[in-house]
Amino acid sequence: MTVRIAQISDLHFGRTAAAIAENLLADLRDLDATLVAVCGDLTQRAKDTEFQAARAFLGRLPAPALVVPGNHDLPVWPIWTRIARPWHPWRRQFGANPADVTTHSGDGLTAVGLNTARRSSLHVDWSRGRVNDRQVAAALRVFEESPRGDLRVLVAHHPFLLEPRAGGHGLVGRSDLALRQLHQRADLLLGGHLHLAYSGVADGLVVAQSGTTLSNRLRGEPNSYNLIEADGDQLTVETRQWNGDRFDTYERSTYARHDLDWSRTP
Ligand SMILES: [Fe+2]
Ligand SMILES: [Fe+2]
Repeated sequence: MTVRIAQISDLHFGRTAAAIAENLLADLRDLDATLVAVCGDLTQRAKDTEFQAARAFLGRLPAPALVVPGNHDLPVWPIWTRIARPWHPWRRQFGANPADVTTHSGDGLTAVGLNTARRSSLHVDWSRGRVNDRQVAAALRVFEESPRGDLRVLVAHHPFLLEPRAGGHGLVGRSDLALRQLHQRADLLLGGHLHLAYSGVADGLVVAQSGTTLSNRLRGEPNSYNLIEADGDQLTVETRQWNGDRFDTYERSTYARHDLDWSRTP
């Protein structure tokens, strides 16, 4: 059974181009995706109008979606709102705080979404997220109970794998702990935050990072999303990049699983 995931990220409503959003929706309608993974930063400044636009967009997705928040979905100002009621703007739109852990399963896929955005941090950079023991344990429980043969996917905003061009950005806090525990017990980690598209392998898991799909907050590369197809022990990450007119295939990376570990294939 082929599992097909459309990975979109960093929509940043408030800084989006409407034409790109309409093209993306048309693309997704043609894909017949098993799941749309939405890797956070729905908004630019966590404003009500931005959340309204994000929610309207999510409501138009033509496949089931698993949505996690990003650091931009927390208000930066006033600081007391961020500390005392960090998810108030999100809750006003979606009716509840984002869950620490969300799940989606069916059609050969078990996916777990983790909220890695934090209102504050001991780290100087508050935009840097974190994953905690409880979330990893919950994900492992879901994967252990998943049907045999399911593709096991973790969806987060912050990255579990960096490339040199990510500059000074760090990995999601406690990524080492998470990767150690997920080793051979999950298949695929999806992230965003860096506005850079790439994929690779970390601790035997495939990691796919999506660029910013809709926003004009570009960091040296065009808007993009990933189309991921998995069939048994084979997996392909295809980055589809905006060429000014439509999304087009830019890069394809293939991976294979041997003895529970994934590696890149030539
Ligand atoms: Fe972002
Ligand atoms: Fe972010």
